[in-house]
Amino acid sequence: MRLAPQPSAQPLRLIVLLLLTTGVIASPVLSSGCPDRCVCDDQLVVQCAGQHLTTFPVNLPLATRQLIISNNRIVELPPLALNYLSDLVYLDCSNNSLTEISESTFGNLRKLAYLDLSFNTLTRIEDRTFGPLASLVMLRMTDNPGLSEIHPDAFAENAALQVLDVSRNNLTALNITSLIALPALRSVGLSGNPWSCECDNEDLCLWVHLEGFKFQAFSGDEAQVTAVERDSIQTIK
Ligand SMILES: *[C@@H]1O[C@H](CO)[C@@H](O)[C@H](O)[C@H]1NC(C)=O
Ligand SMILES: *[C@@H]1O[C@H](CO)[C@@H](O)[C@H](O)[C@H]1NC(C)=O
Ligand SMILES: *[C@@H]1O[C@H](CO)[C@@H](O)[C@H](O)[C@H]1NC(C)=O
Repeated sequence: MRLAPQPSAQPLRLIVLLLLTTGVIASPVLSSGCPDRCVCDDQLVVQCAGQHLTTFPVNLPLATRQLIISNNRIVELPPLALNYLSDLVYLDCSNNSLTEISESTFGNLRKLAYLDLSFNTLTRIEDRTFGPLASLVMLRMTDNPGLSEIHPDAFAENAALQVLDVSRNNLTALNITSLIALPALRSVGLSGNPWSCECDNEDLCLWVHLEGFKFQAFSGDEAQVTAVERDSIQTIK
């Protein structure tokens, strides 16, 4: 059998290429370079930790797979710039001055597996915030001293989520209805929050009690397991 020639393939490819190219040129925030004060390597890792940055880096390589912007004073993750990075797998934003994460912040990061938002100044997490993160495996969101509200369905669509750490925030309650339903979840960090074990929070207390096995160490930290278990027991009393 002979394959028929495909006369339309070449022009089509050219058009796609043109569209892609113009798309990149039209983007005000990206290039193939490396942002100021950051180090970019050929493994597509961009390292900008501890550089006194107050804004999200510009000039990020489009193909960036790991972005580390921890230990700065960045106040905002701009959705437009962030969502051009559709190959991003690892994003460490810990220890910045982020106060708000919006519905559109992570809109296009479908490959993101690791996200760290610890040591920021977040106060609440809305319904759809993490919805687009279909590949998210580990979410660290600890040490946000004013974080007092997480929407019941905040993690409802994160079917790949295995590890969630919300330790040391200002949470008094957490609706676990959608958390319980996550098929891959195996570890949840809850310690260091002012949990109130009354009325609407009873589900959480019961769950912590019944499913104690889920509350494991993060990266082999025995002290933390003990702390989580101790907190859980205190909460149940
Ligand atoms: C946060 O970053 C600052 C530098 O910007 C550093 O001095 C401090 O130790 C960091 N804190 C944590 C908890 O990593
Ligand atoms: C923690 O939440 C309580 C209300 O539940 C509030 O009064 C307190 O100011 C919050 N703490 C911080 C550090 O924002
Ligand atoms: C928890 O959230 C679900 C929706 O996700 C809702 O149906 C349920 O009533 C909530 N439970 C409490 C105790 O607020």
